Amino acid sequence: MKQKILVTGGAGFIGGNFIHYMVNKYPDYFIINLDALTYAGNLGTCEAVEEKSNYKFIKGDITNREFIFDLFEREAFDMVVNFAAESHVDRSVADPEIFIKTNVLGTQVLMDASRTFGVKRYHQVSTDEVYGDLPLNRPDLLFKEDTPLHTSSPYSASKASADLLVLAYHRTFGLPITISRCSNNYGPYHFPEKLIPLMISRALNDEALPVYGNGENVRDWLHVYDHCTAIDLILHKGRIGEVYNIGGNNERTNLEVVQTILKALNKPESLITYVKDRPGHDLRYAIDSTKLKTELGWEPTYNFETGIKQTIEWYLENKKWWENIISGDYKNYFKEQYGDQS
Ligand code: NAD
Ligand code: DAU
Repeated sequence: MKQKILVTGGAGFIGGNFIHYMVNKYPDYFIINLDALTYAGNLGTCEAVEEKSNYKFIKGDITNREFIFDLFEREAFDMVVNFAAESHVDRSVADPEIFIKTNVLGTQVLMDASRTFGVKRYHQVSTDEVYGDLPLNRPDLLFKEDTPLHTSSPYSASKASADLLVLAYHRTFGLPITISRCSNNYGPYHFPEKLIPLMISRALNDEALPVYGNGENVRDWLHVYDHCTAIDLILHKGRIGEVYNIGGNNERTNLEVVQTILKALNKPESLITYVKDRPGHDLRYAIDSTKLKTELGWEPTYNFETGIKQTIEWYLENKKWWENIISGDYKNYFKEQYGDQS
Protein backbone atom coordinates (compact mmCIF):
# COMPACT_ATOMS: atom_id res chain seq x y z
CA MET A 1 0.00 0.00 0.00
CA LYS A 2 1.22 3.50 -0.84
CA GLN A 3 2.32 5.55 2.15
CA LYS A 4 3.12 9.20 2.63
CA ILE A 5 5.83 9.42 5.27
CA LEU A 6 7.12 12.49 7.07
CA VAL A 7 10.76 12.06 8.10
CA THR A 8 11.96 14.84 10.40
CA GLY A 9 15.67 15.59 10.75
CA GLY A 10 16.41 14.02 7.36
CA ALA A 11 19.31 16.40 6.66
CA GLY A 12 21.16 14.97 9.67
CA PHE A 13 23.22 11.82 9.99
CA ILE A 14 20.74 9.00 10.68
CA GLY A 15 17.69 10.73 9.18
CA GLY A 16 19.71 11.36 5.99
CA ASN A 17 20.70 7.70 5.74
CA PHE A 18 17.07 6.70 6.37
CA ILE A 19 15.89 9.03 3.58
CA HIS A 20 18.31 7.36 1.11
CA TYR A 21 17.19 3.93 2.27
CA MET A 22 13.43 4.57 2.08
CA VAL A 23 13.37 6.59 -1.16
CA ASN A 24 15.29 3.82 -2.94
CA LYS A 25 13.57 0.85 -1.31
CA TYR A 26 9.99 2.08 -1.69
CA PRO A 27 9.55 3.90 -5.03
CA ASP A 28 5.74 3.82 -4.41
CA TYR A 29 5.96 5.71 -1.14
CA PHE A 30 6.25 9.47 -0.94
CA ILE A 31 8.90 10.64 1.50
CA ILE A 32 8.90 14.19 2.82
CA ASN A 33 12.03 15.37 4.60
CA LEU A 34 11.37 18.16 7.11
CA ASP A 35 14.48 19.72 8.62
CA ALA A 36 15.29 23.07 10.22
CA LEU A 37 18.87 22.90 8.87
CA THR A 38 20.53 23.68 12.19
CA TYR A 39 24.34 23.47 12.38
CA ALA A 40 23.92 19.65 12.13
CA GLY A 41 21.68 19.66 9.07
CA ASN A 42 23.27 19.54 5.64
CA LEU A 43 21.39 19.33 2.35
CA GLY A 44 24.51 17.86 0.73
CA THR A 45 23.59 14.69 2.62
CA CYS A 46 20.45 14.26 0.51
CA GLU A 47 21.93 15.31 -2.84
CA ALA A 48 21.73 11.80 -4.32
CA VAL A 49 17.93 11.60 -3.90
CA GLU A 50 17.12 15.27 -4.56
CA GLU A 51 15.73 14.62 -8.05
CA LYS A 52 13.69 11.52 -7.20
CA SER A 53 9.97 11.88 -7.89
CA ASN A 54 9.00 10.24 -4.58
CA TYR A 55 11.00 12.72 -2.45
CA LYS A 56 10.55 16.32 -1.33
CA PHE A 57 12.49 18.53 1.11
CA ILE A 58 10.79 21.15 3.26
CA LYS A 59 12.69 23.52 5.54
CA GLY A 60 10.92 23.97 8.88
CA ASP A 61 11.11 23.72 12.64
CA ILE A 62 9.25 20.98 14.54
CA THR A 63 8.68 23.36 17.46
CA ASN A 64 6.70 25.79 15.28
CA ARG A 65 3.15 24.63 16.05
CA GLU A 66 1.33 26.72 13.47
CA PHE A 67 3.68 25.72 10.69
CA ILE A 68 3.53 22.03 11.66
CA PHE A 69 -0.27 22.00 11.84
CA ASP A 70 -0.53 23.66 8.39
CA LEU A 71 1.91 21.12 6.98
CA PHE A 72 0.01 18.12 8.42
CA GLU A 73 -3.32 19.45 7.17
CA ARG A 74 -1.94 19.99 3.68
CA GLU A 75 0.00 16.73 3.33
CA ALA A 76 -2.16 14.20 5.25
CA PHE A 77 0.74 11.95 6.28
CA ASP A 78 0.21 8.25 6.91
CA MET A 79 3.32 7.94 9.07
CA VAL A 80 5.73 10.19 10.94
CA VAL A 81 9.29 9.17 11.84
CA ASN A 82 10.85 11.70 14.19
CA PHE A 83 14.64 11.89 13.98
CA ALA A 84 14.82 15.68 14.47
CA ALA A 85 16.74 16.48 17.63
CA GLU A 86 19.69 18.15 19.20
CA SER A 87 21.89 15.07 19.43
CA HIS A 88 25.30 15.95 20.86
CA VAL A 89 25.89 15.29 24.57
CA ASP A 90 28.76 17.81 24.87
CA ARG A 91 26.59 20.60 23.46
CA SER A 92 23.86 19.72 25.98
CA VAL A 93 26.38 20.20 28.78
CA ALA A 94 27.35 23.60 27.38
CA ASP A 95 23.76 24.79 26.74
CA PRO A 96 20.82 22.56 27.74
CA GLU A 97 17.90 24.82 26.79
CA ILE A 98 17.62 24.09 23.07
CA PHE A 99 17.64 20.36 23.92
CA ILE A 100 14.47 20.71 25.98
CA LYS A 101 12.85 22.88 23.32
CA THR A 102 13.59 20.67 20.31
CA ASN A 103 13.65 17.21 21.83
CA VAL A 104 10.71 17.53 24.25
CA LEU A 105 8.47 20.33 22.99
CA GLY A 106 9.13 19.51 19.33
CA THR A 107 8.05 15.91 19.96
CA GLN A 108 4.87 17.14 21.64
CA VAL A 109 4.00 19.41 18.69
CA LEU A 110 4.49 16.54 16.22
CA MET A 111 2.30 14.24 18.31
CA ASP A 112 -0.45 16.86 18.69
CA ALA A 113 -0.49 17.29 14.93
CA SER A 114 -0.44 13.50 14.45
CA ARG A 115 -3.51 13.17 16.72
CA THR A 116 -5.38 15.99 15.06
CA PHE A 117 -4.80 14.81 11.50
CA GLY A 118 -5.15 11.05 12.05
CA VAL A 119 -1.59 9.85 11.44
CA LYS A 120 -1.62 6.04 11.44
CA ARG A 121 1.84 5.63 12.96
CA TYR A 122 4.04 7.98 14.93
CA HIS A 123 7.53 6.56 15.39
CA GLN A 124 9.92 8.13 17.88
CA VAL A 125 13.64 7.60 17.29
CA SER A 126 15.16 7.36 20.75
CA THR A 127 18.44 6.27 22.24
CA ASP A 128 19.97 3.75 24.63
CA GLU A 129 21.21 6.74 26.66
CA VAL A 130 17.76 6.94 28.30
CA TYR A 131 18.77 3.90 30.38
CA GLY A 132 21.81 5.68 31.86
CA ASP A 133 25.00 3.63 32.03
CA LEU A 134 26.28 0.22 33.08
CA PRO A 135 29.36 -0.61 35.17
CA LEU A 136 32.54 -1.57 33.32
CA ASN A 137 33.05 -4.70 35.43
CA ARG A 138 29.64 -6.33 34.73
CA PRO A 139 29.71 -7.50 31.08
CA ASP A 140 26.68 -9.68 31.87
CA LEU A 141 24.42 -6.61 32.25
CA LEU A 142 22.58 -5.28 29.18
CA PHE A 143 19.80 -2.71 28.69
CA LYS A 144 16.40 -4.33 28.07
CA GLU A 145 13.21 -2.51 27.09
CA ASP A 146 11.99 -2.60 30.71
CA THR A 147 15.25 -1.32 32.24
CA PRO A 148 14.30 1.78 34.27
CA LEU A 149 15.07 5.16 32.69
CA HIS A 150 17.96 6.75 34.54
CA THR A 151 19.61 9.58 32.65
CA SER A 152 22.93 11.39 33.06
CA SER A 153 23.11 14.37 30.67
CA PRO A 154 20.65 17.09 29.65
CA TYR A 155 20.60 15.38 26.24
CA SER A 156 19.61 11.97 27.58
CA ALA A 157 17.15 13.54 30.03
CA SER A 158 15.46 15.36 27.14
CA LYS A 159 15.22 12.13 25.11
CA ALA A 160 13.82 10.21 28.10
CA SER A 161 11.28 12.98 28.71
CA ALA A 162 10.17 12.71 25.10
CA ASP A 163 9.85 8.91 25.41
CA LEU A 164 7.62 9.28 28.47
CA LEU A 165 5.42 11.78 26.63
CA VAL A 166 5.15 9.44 23.64
CA LEU A 167 4.05 6.56 25.89
CA ALA A 168 1.59 8.86 27.66
CA TYR A 169 0.05 9.98 24.33
CA HIS A 170 -0.47 6.34 23.48
CA ARG A 171 -2.11 5.42 26.77
CA THR A 172 -4.19 8.57 27.22
CA PHE A 173 -5.12 9.48 23.64
CA GLY A 174 -4.60 6.17 21.85
CA LEU A 175 -1.97 7.67 19.52
CA PRO A 176 -0.56 4.74 17.48
CA ILE A 177 3.09 5.01 18.45
CA THR A 178 6.27 2.94 18.45
CA ILE A 179 9.64 3.84 19.98
CA SER A 180 13.09 2.54 19.07
CA ARG A 181 16.10 2.94 21.36
CA CYS A 182 19.36 2.49 19.53
CA SER A 183 23.00 2.28 20.51
CA ASN A 184 25.81 4.43 19.01
CA ASN A 185 25.58 4.69 15.22
CA TYR A 186 28.42 5.22 12.78
CA GLY A 187 28.70 5.32 8.99
CA PRO A 188 28.45 7.79 6.08
CA TYR A 189 27.36 11.42 6.67
CA HIS A 190 28.18 11.34 10.40
CA PHE A 191 28.82 14.90 11.62
CA PRO A 192 32.51 15.31 12.56
CA GLU A 193 31.84 16.44 16.13
CA LYS A 194 31.10 12.80 17.12
CA LEU A 195 33.84 10.35 18.10
CA ILE A 196 34.34 8.26 14.94
CA PRO A 197 34.13 10.96 12.23
CA LEU A 198 36.04 13.38 14.46
CA MET A 199 38.91 10.93 14.81
CA ILE A 200 38.93 9.98 11.11
CA SER A 201 38.94 13.60 9.89
CA ARG A 202 41.55 14.76 12.40
CA ALA A 203 43.82 11.75 11.84
CA LEU A 204 43.72 12.39 8.09
CA ASN A 205 44.91 15.95 8.82
CA ASP A 206 47.59 14.71 11.27
CA GLU A 207 45.89 16.59 14.13
CA ALA A 208 45.74 15.61 17.82
CA LEU A 209 42.96 13.13 18.69
CA PRO A 210 41.21 14.22 21.92
CA VAL A 211 40.29 11.15 24.02
CA TYR A 212 38.22 11.94 27.11
CA GLY A 213 39.50 10.68 30.49
CA ASN A 214 41.41 7.43 30.16
CA GLY A 215 39.60 6.19 27.02
CA GLU A 216 38.10 3.20 28.86
CA ASN A 217 34.43 4.15 28.42
CA VAL A 218 32.57 1.59 26.33
CA ARG A 219 30.03 2.11 23.55
CA ASP A 220 28.08 -0.49 21.52
CA TRP A 221 28.52 0.46 17.83
CA LEU A 222 25.88 -0.13 15.17
CA HIS A 223 26.29 0.73 11.48
CA VAL A 224 23.65 3.29 10.51
CA TYR A 225 22.38 1.06 7.66
CA ASP A 226 21.35 -1.54 10.22
CA HIS A 227 19.53 1.12 12.24
CA CYS A 228 17.56 1.98 9.07
CA THR A 229 16.56 -1.64 8.41
CA ALA A 230 15.39 -1.95 12.03
CA ILE A 231 13.18 1.15 11.83
CA ASP A 232 11.76 -0.05 8.51
CA LEU A 233 10.77 -3.36 10.15
CA ILE A 234 9.27 -1.64 13.20
CA LEU A 235 7.21 0.69 10.99
CA HIS A 236 5.82 -2.19 8.95
CA LYS A 237 5.61 -5.02 11.48
CA GLY A 238 6.14 -3.56 14.96
CA ARG A 239 3.36 -3.70 17.52
CA ILE A 240 1.65 -0.41 18.37
CA GLY A 241 2.56 0.96 21.81
CA GLU A 242 5.82 -1.01 21.98
CA VAL A 243 9.44 -0.05 22.60
CA TYR A 244 12.17 -1.87 20.62
CA ASN A 245 15.87 -1.82 21.51
CA ILE A 246 18.36 -1.81 18.63
CA GLY A 247 22.00 -2.69 19.29
CA GLY A 248 25.09 -3.74 17.44
CA ASN A 249 26.59 -6.22 19.91
CA ASN A 250 29.90 -4.53 19.11
CA GLU A 251 31.18 -3.17 22.41
CA ARG A 252 34.49 -1.32 22.17
CA THR A 253 36.37 1.03 24.49
CA ASN A 254 36.88 4.49 22.99
CA LEU A 255 40.60 3.83 22.96
CA GLU A 256 40.10 0.65 20.92
CA VAL A 257 37.99 2.59 18.42
CA VAL A 258 40.63 5.29 18.02
CA GLN A 259 43.44 2.73 17.70
CA THR A 260 41.48 0.85 15.01
CA ILE A 261 41.06 4.06 13.02
CA LEU A 262 44.75 4.99 13.34
CA LYS A 263 45.82 1.53 12.22
CA ALA A 264 43.49 1.58 9.19
CA LEU A 265 44.83 5.00 8.15
CA ASN A 266 48.43 4.06 8.86
CA LYS A 267 48.81 6.95 11.32
CA PRO A 268 50.86 6.91 14.57
CA GLU A 269 49.31 6.42 18.04
CA SER A 270 51.28 9.48 19.14
CA LEU A 271 48.36 11.52 17.75
CA ILE A 272 46.25 10.39 20.73
CA THR A 273 45.92 13.16 23.35
CA TYR A 274 44.13 12.53 26.65
CA VAL A 275 41.93 15.50 27.52
CA LYS A 276 39.62 16.51 30.39
CA ASP A 277 36.75 14.06 30.84
CA ARG A 278 33.15 14.87 29.84
CA PRO A 279 31.13 15.85 32.98
CA GLY A 280 28.76 13.02 33.96
CA HIS A 281 30.40 10.77 31.33
CA ASP A 282 28.47 7.49 30.97
CA LEU A 283 30.74 4.48 31.48
CA ARG A 284 29.23 1.79 29.31
CA TYR A 285 26.24 1.21 27.03
CA ALA A 286 25.19 -2.25 25.92
CA ILE A 287 21.87 -3.20 24.33
CA ASP A 288 19.89 -6.42 24.34
CA SER A 289 18.08 -6.57 20.96
CA THR A 290 16.43 -9.96 21.56
CA LYS A 291 12.89 -8.56 21.23
CA LEU A 292 13.59 -7.01 17.81
CA LYS A 293 15.31 -10.18 16.61
CA THR A 294 12.77 -12.73 17.82
CA GLU A 295 9.61 -10.72 17.15
CA LEU A 296 10.52 -9.02 13.88
CA GLY A 297 13.42 -11.13 12.58
CA TRP A 298 15.95 -8.27 12.49
CA GLU A 299 19.65 -9.06 12.07
CA PRO A 300 22.45 -6.53 11.52
CA THR A 301 24.43 -6.90 8.30
CA TYR A 302 27.66 -5.27 9.51
CA ASN A 303 29.98 -6.15 12.37
CA PHE A 304 32.38 -3.50 13.66
CA GLU A 305 35.28 -4.67 11.46
CA THR A 306 33.33 -4.55 8.18
CA GLY A 307 31.43 -1.41 9.20
CA ILE A 308 34.43 0.68 10.23
CA LYS A 309 36.27 -0.32 7.04
CA GLN A 310 33.31 0.83 4.90
CA THR A 311 33.01 4.04 6.94
CA ILE A 312 36.69 4.97 6.66
CA GLU A 313 36.55 4.35 2.90
CA TRP A 314 33.50 6.64 2.68
CA TYR A 315 35.33 9.46 4.50
CA LEU A 316 38.32 9.04 2.20
CA GLU A 317 36.09 9.19 -0.90
CA ASN A 318 33.87 12.05 0.33
CA LYS A 319 36.36 14.56 1.67
CA LYS A 320 34.42 17.43 0.15
CA TRP A 321 31.38 16.67 2.33
CA TRP A 322 33.23 16.85 5.66
CA GLU A 323 35.85 19.43 4.67
CA ASN A 324 33.00 21.82 3.92
CA ILE A 325 31.66 21.29 7.43
CA ILE A 326 34.93 21.67 9.31
CA SER A 327 35.77 24.90 7.53
CA GLY A 328 32.77 26.88 8.87
CA ASP A 329 31.34 27.60 12.32
CA TYR A 330 32.62 24.23 13.39
CA LYS A 331 36.04 25.82 14.03
CA ASN A 332 34.60 28.06 16.77
CA TYR A 333 32.75 25.11 18.31
CA PHE A 334 35.95 23.05 18.35
CA LYS A 335 37.88 25.82 20.06
CA GLU A 336 35.20 26.33 22.71
CA GLN A 337 34.81 22.61 23.37
CA TYR A 338 38.46 21.59 23.48
CA GLY A 339 40.21 24.89 24.25
CA ASP A 340 43.98 24.59 24.44
CA GLN A 341 43.85 20.88 25.18
CA SER A 342 43.70 19.92 21.53
P1 NAD B 1 22.05 14.86 13.90
O1 NAD B 1 22.40 15.90 14.92
O2 NAD B 1 23.08 14.42 12.92
O3 NAD B 1 20.79 15.37 13.05
C1 NAD B 1 19.70 16.01 13.62
C2 NAD B 1 18.91 16.69 12.51
O4 NAD B 1 17.74 17.30 13.11
C3 NAD B 1 19.68 17.82 11.79
O5 NAD B 1 19.53 17.70 10.40
C4 NAD B 1 19.01 19.08 12.30
O6 NAD B 1 19.04 20.15 11.35
C5 NAD B 1 17.59 18.59 12.57
N1 NAD B 1 16.89 19.42 13.55
C6 NAD B 1 17.35 19.85 14.75
N2 NAD B 1 16.42 20.62 15.36
C7 NAD B 1 15.34 20.64 14.54
C8 NAD B 1 14.07 21.27 14.62
N3 NAD B 1 13.72 22.01 15.69
N4 NAD B 1 13.19 21.09 13.61
C9 NAD B 1 13.54 20.34 12.53
N5 NAD B 1 14.73 19.75 12.39
C10 NAD B 1 15.64 19.90 13.38
O7 NAD B 1 21.47 13.65 14.73
P2 NAD B 1 21.58 12.08 14.46
O8 NAD B 1 22.83 11.57 15.05
O9 NAD B 1 21.27 11.80 13.05
O10 NAD B 1 20.39 11.55 15.38
C11 NAD B 1 19.06 11.48 14.86
C12 NAD B 1 18.14 10.94 15.95
O11 NAD B 1 18.57 9.67 16.37
C13 NAD B 1 18.11 11.81 17.20
O12 NAD B 1 16.78 11.84 17.67
C14 NAD B 1 19.02 11.09 18.18
O13 NAD B 1 18.61 11.34 19.51
C15 NAD B 1 18.76 9.64 17.78
N6 NAD B 1 19.87 8.71 18.02
C16 NAD B 1 21.14 8.99 17.58
C17 NAD B 1 22.15 8.04 17.74
C18 NAD B 1 23.55 8.28 17.24
O14 NAD B 1 24.44 7.48 17.50
N7 NAD B 1 23.82 9.35 16.48
C19 NAD B 1 21.87 6.82 18.38
C20 NAD B 1 20.58 6.58 18.85
C21 NAD B 1 19.58 7.52 18.65
O1 DAU C 1 24.24 5.82 22.47
C1 DAU C 1 23.55 6.59 21.54
C2 DAU C 1 24.07 8.01 21.53
O2 DAU C 1 25.36 7.97 20.91
C3 DAU C 1 23.15 8.99 20.80
O3 DAU C 1 21.93 9.08 21.50
C4 DAU C 1 23.80 10.37 20.68
O4 DAU C 1 22.98 11.23 19.91
C5 DAU C 1 25.15 10.21 20.01
O5 DAU C 1 25.80 11.46 19.93
C6 DAU C 1 26.01 9.21 20.77
O6 DAU C 1 26.37 9.73 22.08
P1 DAU C 1 27.84 9.55 22.68
O7 DAU C 1 28.04 10.58 23.71
O8 DAU C 1 28.09 8.13 23.06
O9 DAU C 1 28.70 9.85 21.34
P2 DAU C 1 30.04 10.70 21.10
O10 DAU C 1 30.45 10.41 19.70
O11 DAU C 1 29.87 12.12 21.50
O12 DAU C 1 31.07 10.04 22.09
C7 DAU C 1 31.34 8.64 22.04
C8 DAU C 1 32.35 8.33 23.14
O13 DAU C 1 33.59 8.94 22.80
C9 DAU C 1 31.96 8.90 24.49
O14 DAU C 1 32.37 8.00 25.50
C10 DAU C 1 32.77 10.19 24.60
C11 DAU C 1 34.02 9.88 23.80
N1 DAU C 1 34.64 11.02 23.13
C12 DAU C 1 33.86 11.79 22.32
C13 DAU C 1 34.39 12.88 21.65
C14 DAU C 1 33.53 13.75 20.77
C15 DAU C 1 36.00 11.28 23.26
O15 DAU C 1 36.71 10.56 23.97
N2 DAU C 1 36.53 12.36 22.61
C16 DAU C 1 35.79 13.18 21.82
O16 DAU C 1 36.34 14.17 21.27
